[in-house]
Amino acid sequence: MLVLGIETSCDECSIAVVEDGKTIRSNIVATQIDLHREFDGVVPEIASRLHTEWISSVFRRSLEEAGIAKEDIDVVAVTSRPGLIGSLLVGLSFAKGLAFALGKPLVTVDHIRAHLYAPHLEHSIDYPYLGLLVSGGHTVIGIVREYDSVEVLGTTIDDACGEAFDKVAKHYKMGYPGGVAIDKLAKQGDDSLFSFPDPSLHKGDHRYDVSYSGLKTAVINQITQFSSTPPPYRNEDIAASFQKAAVGMLMKRLRYAIDDTGIRRVVAGGGVVANSRLRRELSELEDVEVIVPSMRLCTDNGAMIAGLGYMMFVNGITSSLAENASSRVAA
Ligand code: KG4
Ligand code: ZN
Repeated sequence: MLVLGIETSCDECSIAVVEDGKTIRSNIVATQIDLHREFDGVVPEIASRLHTEWISSVFRRSLEEAGIAKEDIDVVAVTSRPGLIGSLLVGLSFAKGLAFALGKPLVTVDHIRAHLYAPHLEHSIDYPYLGLLVSGGHTVIGIVREYDSVEVLGTTIDDACGEAFDKVAKHYKMGYPGGVAIDKLAKQGDDSLFSFPDPSLHKGDHRYDVSYSGLKTAVINQITQFSSTPPPYRNEDIAASFQKAAVGMLMKRLRYAIDDTGIRRVVAGGGVVANSRLRRELSELEDVEVIVPSMRLCTDNGAMIAGLGYMMFVNGITSSLAENASSRVAA
């Protein structure tokens, strides 16, 4: 079964063809990064306009690379939430038109769940596992019991982890996109030069929660106002020290979750899972099976949408052509 996966929730215009929820026949990702760089962040209005301009050619390239005609598509899957509403609507409207024209079923997919499906495209994974989803918009640790069942243990009480990478990088003019720039700078930095607090939420109900706005503020305030280290401060050292704290915050919560639940399988997804320090620290977890997607499947892509769309379809879930998009996370 060939499922087309359409992803336009943010600044990646991506369309993939995935066979039987597993084999990636094509996965075209047209990134808008260069066009948002001068603004140091994604401009929603620009993003949706670019999706409108690009989506037809991304679709054509995706079919070409998969070696199929549009009539060969069995199911059209598309991200419908959460994300930038204008961007989501471009992908959703395209998907609806295509499904209608081809007379094929439409499946609308949750972007966050799809990030956690991404590792399944490359590995055979048994349930249950601890899912770690870390992206620009979301930070979640949960127990995943089935493809559609996530029990959230902890999340961020304010900013997402990737958002903190982006904001720290913007503040110190480290480069864009922030996560990639910090990862690169940190390789030449001393991570022990600054020590940032872990907002101590790890008690009672908040045991698994994180606060990245708190960390971001500490990184900005502590260095500009209170540091005992004499200036000038090197961006490399700030990046390395921040990255250590940001990753440490996640690893600490993950350790709690492993110990508390006894689940010794961890599956990670989302853009921040491309981070070299996070990947290293995950791989160093002892007596735990750790599965992370390859780099291209960490950040936004259509293949993960097609993959999860396939699972939903074979389990009897389809959407009507009246389906709407939503910027919000599903309740
Ligand atoms: O999953 P994603 O592509 O989009 C969302 O669903 O948000 O994640 C994007 C986020 C951005 O915040 C970006 O800075 C971060 O992932 N990111 C990284 C790295 N590569 C991307 N963060 C840290 N280190 C990286 N190497
Ligand atoms: Zn994403």
